[in-house]
Amino acid sequence: MTSMEPDLREVMIPSADIQAKVRELGEAVTRDYAGERPLLVGILRGGVVFLSDLMRAVDLPCEIDFMDISSYGAGTSSSGVVRILKDLEEDITGRHVLIVEDIVDTGLTLSYLNRALLARKPASLEICALLTKPSRRKVPIEVKYLGFEVPDEFVVGYGLDYAGAYRNLPDIGVLKPEVFGGAEE
Ligand code: PRP
Ligand code: MN
Ligand code: MG
Repeated sequence: MTSMEPDLREVMIPSADIQAKVRELGEAVTRDYAGERPLLVGILRGGVVFLSDLMRAVDLPCEIDFMDISSYGAGTSSSGVVRILKDLEEDITGRHVLIVEDIVDTGLTLSYLNRALLARKPASLEICALLTKPSRRKVPIEVKYLGFEVPDEFVVGYGLDYAGAYRNLPDIGVLKPEVFGGAEE
C-alpha cells in the first residue's frame, strides 16, 4: 500500500506480476542476444522505470541510451508528427538496438522511432514494451518482446503518468475518475 493507492479505482497489474514478467522478458532478451552487446534505448520519460528493471534482468554486457520525443502541437496521440527533443548519444550504425517503452497506444511514437532509427542502419532493431492497448492502434507496430495487453483504460504507475504524477507507483493501476476531474479522454 502506497500513499497513492487511494487514488486508484483498481490495481490492474500488481508489482509482483510486473516483476515476474520483467524477469521473463529479460531471459528472452538474454537468450536472443547471446554473444552480442545490445544497446537498450529507453524512451523518456515513461520508459525509464521499465528500462531500469529490465536491464538488470538481462545477463549480458548491454549498454543503455535514451531518447526523448514529442508530438508537435496539441493532440499528442493524434497528429503523428513527432520531433526529437533529445537524441541518442551513441552512434547505432551496426549495433543491435532494442527500444524499451512503457506502452504502445496508437503506435505513432514507435512508428516514428522505428523509421528514424532504421535510417541509421543498426545491425538490428526490435521493440520491448511492457504494455499494449491494441484497441487504440492507428498504425501497425511489431513488438517482439511484450509484457501485457491492457484494455482502453487510463493506466498509471511503473513509469506511466497522469499530469506528470504516479510514475513511481510500483503497481499499474486505473485512476478513479474524480482524480482526473471526471473527464474522459
Ligand atoms: C506515452 C507513452 C508512450 C507513448 C505511447 O508517452 O509513454 O511513449 O505515449 O503513445 P502512442 O503509441 O499513442 O504514441 P508520453 O508522450 O505521454 O510521454 P512520457 O513518456 O514522457 O509520459
Ligand atoms: Mn512515453
Ligand atoms: Mg505521458
